[in-house]
Amino acid sequence: MEVESSKSGNWKHSLVYLAFITLIIHLILHKHKLSGNDTVRVKRNPNLPIRFRYDGTFKILQVADMHYGNGIMSRCRDVLDEEFPYCSDLNTTHFLNTLILSENPDFIAFTGDNIFGPSTADAAESLLEAFGPAMESGLPWAAILGNHDQESTMNRAELMSFISLMDYSVSQTNPSAEGPTSSLKGSMMTDIDGFGNYNLRVYGAPGSHLANSSIFNLLFLDSGDRAVVQGVRTYGWIKESQLRWVRGISQRFQGQTSDTDQSADALPLTIPALGFFHIPIPEIRQLYYKKIVGQFQEAVACSSVNSGVLETLVSIGDVKAVFMGHDHTNDFCGNLDGIWFCYGGGIGYHGYGKAGWPRRARVILAELGKGDKAWMGVERIKTWKRLDDEKLSKIDEQVLWDHRPSK
Ligand SMILES: *[C@@H]1O[C@H](CO)[C@@H](O)[C@H](O)[C@H]1NC(C)=O
Ligand SMILES: *[C@@H]1O[C@H](CO)[C@@H](O)[C@H](O)[C@H]1NC(C)=O
Repeated sequence: MEVESSKSGNWKHSLVYLAFITLIIHLILHKHKLSGNDTVRVKRNPNLPIRFRYDGTFKILQVADMHYGNGIMSRCRDVLDEEFPYCSDLNTTHFLNTLILSENPDFIAFTGDNIFGPSTADAAESLLEAFGPAMESGLPWAAILGNHDQESTMNRAELMSFISLMDYSVSQTNPSAEGPTSSLKGSMMTDIDGFGNYNLRVYGAPGSHLANSSIFNLLFLDSGDRAVVQGVRTYGWIKESQLRWVRGISQRFQGQTSDTDQSADALPLTIPALGFFHIPIPEIRQLYYKKIVGQFQEAVACSSVNSGVLETLVSIGDVKAVFMGHDHTNDFCGNLDGIWFCYGGGIGYHGYGKAGWPRRARVILAELGKGDKAWMGVERIKTWKRLDDEKLSKIDEQVLWDHRPSK
C-alpha cells in the first residue's frame, strides 16, 4: 500500500512539474513572439516593499464606498436636481482620478462597498472599472469588502482573490499561515473568518538606517456583510478568529522591531499601526456625545454583536487609528480609549449621500522623526479630507498621533 501510494505520489509530482515547465516555456515563447504586444498578461506589481519617501512621509488615500455599478448606466443618487442629468459612476471615477493627481499619495486603501452588487451586471467588469484609476496610477493599493460587494456575480472569496490579482494590488485574500513547521509557510491561513484579512508592512525611508525595517503596519480586516442573530437581521462583525490573528501579529512585531540591532534604539517601543475595516463597531455610537472632528449625520449602522474589537485594539496598543466606511454621511473622527476612529465619508455618486453635501475622501499622512543624520521611526500621524467641489477643498485637518519628544 505504502509503496504504491508513494509511487503514484512521485508520478503526480512529475506531472505537476512538467505542467509547470510547459507553462513557463509557453510564457517565454509567447512573450518573445509577441514582443511588445499585450496579449499575454501577467499581473503588474508595484515597487515593493511599500516604504516611506526620501522626505520622511507616507501618504494614504482612503476611498470609502465607491458603490460602483455599471458605469455610465448607473445614475447618481442624492445630488441636486440640476446635477442629476449628467451624473453617473463616471463622476466617481473622475473624482478618484482628481484625488490621485492632486494629493499624489503613496498608497490607496479602499474600505469596502467598492462595487454595488444590485446595480452590477458583471462583478469582474465593475471591479476593473471601479479600481481603474488605482491600476492606472501604478501605486500600490489594497481593498477590503463591504456588505454590498458580493451582491452580484462573485462571492466574497472570489472577489478577494480577483482583487488580489489586479494590477498593482497588494490586497490578500487572507494571511499566510506561519505555523511552527516550515511546510505551512506560504500557504493561506484557513482558520480565520472572512476574506480580506491581511497586514501590510511599510518600510523606512530609502537610504536611512531603517530602510530594511518595517516601521509602520497597515492592518486590514473583513467586517463581513449581514447576519441573523436570534432571528433578527443585523450587520456582520469581526470574529474572535480574526482578533486572535491580530493579537498574534502584534506580538510578533513587538518582538522583532527591526532587522538590525543598532537601529532598535531609534524606534518607538511599539511599531504604530493603522486599522482598516468597513462596518463601524458599536462603540462608535458613544461618539455622538463626545467631541468629534467632522460630521455625525446618520445613525451608526453597526452589528448588534459586540465582539470586543475595541477591547482588543486597546490591549495590544499598536493601532493608533482605525478607518471605516459604511455610513456615507458620517465623516468624523472621534477618540475611544485613546484610539481614533475615522469615517472616510462616501466617495461614490451611485451610493446614497446628501444633495448639496459634496462627496469626499480622507487622506492620512504619517511622518517620520528626524534624527541627527537620518530619518527615524514614525513620529506623527495626521488626517484631513478632500471634497469634490470646485476647489477640491481641504477640510478638518487634525493630528491623530504625536510621538514627538516633549521639549
Ligand atoms: C459629473 O460629470 C459631468 C461630466 O463631466 C459633469 O458635467 C457634472 O457636473 C458632474 N456632476 C457632478 C455632480 O459632479
Ligand atoms: C538594506 O538592504 C540593501 C540591500 O540588501 C543593502 O544594500 C543596504 O545596505 C541595507 N541597508 C541597511 C541600512 O541595512
